[in-house]
Amino acid sequence: MSSERATSRRRLLATGGACAGAVALSGCADGSYSGSSLTESENAAPSASGKPGEGTVLARVDEVPVGGALVTEGPDDERIALAQPSEGEFTAHSAVCTHMGCTVRADGNRLRCPCHNSVFESATGEVVSGPARTPLPGIAVHVAGERIVTGEG
Ligand code: FES
Repeated sequence: MSSERATSRRRLLATGGACAGAVALSGCADGSYSGSSLTESENAAPSASGKPGEGTVLARVDEVPVGGALVTEGPDDERIALAQPSEGEFTAHSAVCTHMGCTVRADGNRLRCPCHNSVFESATGEVVSGPARTPLPGIAVHVAGERIVTGEG
């Protein structure tokens, strides 16, 4: 891996406000899925700073498909949609639909709500089609090694 690529893989998009909320549930037609396969000990790994408690490990970078999304759990069981719009670029958004609170699912590069069919861009959280009118809130994440961790890093 070139140093340029290594740097790119560690680049993170900490999106504020309206970003994509990518959601993927088990068995989605596009092959997306939800939940990280991290073991309990991996999930307890320290953040990039090495200080325990500074961030929660959400997933391994290789668990988020390029051009797709993964829905996983964050702190306090918060549902979070991770997206990788291009290789090494990660965004995170709440996976809670801004219409009435259902959990969105990944559908390719979109997030689709199973309750009333609102659609969001996974990379930005912007509404593609309603009834939702408000984008999915962005969540700050960073890459630490091969893991995506909550917080600015
Ligand atoms: S709760 Fe998501 S579209 Fe209604």
